[in-house]
Amino acid sequence: MEIKDVKFRYPQSDRDALDGVSLRIEKGEYVSVIGHNGSGKSTLARLMNGLLLPSAGEIVVDGFSTAEKQNLFEIRKRVGVVFQNPDNQLVASIVEDDIAFGPENLGVPRKEIGERIDFALKAVGMEEYRKATPTRLSGGQKQRIAIAGVLAIRPEMLVLDESTAMLDPKGRKEVTSVVEKLNRENGMTVLTITHYMDEVCRADRVIVLSDGKIVMEGTPEEIFSREEELRKYELDVPVPTYIADRLREGGMELGKIYDKERLGAELCGLLRKI
Ligand SMILES: Nc1ncnc2c1ncn2[C@@H]1O[C@H](COP(=O)(O)OP(=O)(O)OP(=O)(O)O)[C@@H](O)[C@H]1O
Ligand SMILES: [Mg+2]
Repeated sequence: MEIKDVKFRYPQSDRDALDGVSLRIEKGEYVSVIGHNGSGKSTLARLMNGLLLPSAGEIVVDGFSTAEKQNLFEIRKRVGVVFQNPDNQLVASIVEDDIAFGPENLGVPRKEIGERIDFALKAVGMEEYRKATPTRLSGGQKQRIAIAGVLAIRPEMLVLDESTAMLDPKGRKEVTSVVEKLNRENGMTVLTITHYMDEVCRADRVIVLSDGKIVMEGTPEEIFSREEELRKYELDVPVPTYIADRLREGGMELGKIYDKERLGAELCGLLRKI
C-alpha cells in the first residue's frame, strides 16, 4: 500500500484531519500507528479501504487507487478493516452466518464459503463456536469473530483500529496473539492502531501521528528510546521501559527493555547475582 501525500478534511471542518501523510507499507509488514486523541489515526484507517477518499493525494493498493470507484471492490477484497466495537461489526445471530456475510457479498460459491468459514474460525482459534450466538460471547471472542469475518474475505492486509480498546486484559491478549500469528505464520500484512504501548512492541515499524502529520517513524526500540520526544506528542513509553529506565538511572545494570517478560527476566538475572 502506498499512501502519497494524502490530505483529508471532513465536511464542515476548518482543519485537515490528515495533512500530507506519505507512507509505504510492504507485503508482510507489521506496522503500528500511535498518536494522541484526534491525531488522525481512524481517518487514516478509513482511507485505507476507501471508506473515505483523500481530499488531496492518493492511496494505491496493489496498483488500485482508492479514488476510482470501480476499484473499491478489488481494494476491499485486499484490505480488511476491524474496528473498536465488536457489537457494531457482527451482523448475524449465528457465528457461521456472520462470517459468511462478507464472502456471500463477494459472490463466493456456497461450497467455498464453508471452507472459508473453517479457515477463518481456525485462524482465530474459535472452531467450537461455529453454531454459537455472537451476543453470548465474551468481548475478546466477539472481536475474534469480527476478525474471522474479515479473514473470510481472504484479505492480504488487516487494519485494526483500536480493536482491543474495549476488551479486558484476557480479551486483549487473545486478539493480539491471533493478529501476531496471522502476521508471522500466514504472512498477513498488519496495520494496528492502538493506545496500548505494549502492543506496539510487536510491530516491525511504528508510526507516530500528531495533528494529521507523521512526526516519528522507526522500530519500537528506536521510538521508545526517544521518551522526551514522545512526551511532546502526549505519548508515553511502555510501562516496563519506564521502570527499566528509572532503575538504570538508579544504578542498576539493565539493558534496553520494552516488554514485561524481558523486564522480569533481567531483574531475575540480577537477583541471582546478589
Ligand atoms: N466525522 C467527523 N466529522 C468531522 N470531524 C471529524 C470526524 N471524525 C473525526 N473528526 C476530526 O478529525 C480529526 C482526526 O480524527 P480521528 O478520529 O481520525 O482521530 P484519532 O487519532 O482516531 O483519535 P482517537 O484516538 O480519539 O480515536 C479530529 O480533529 C476529529 O475531531
Ligand atoms: Mg480513532
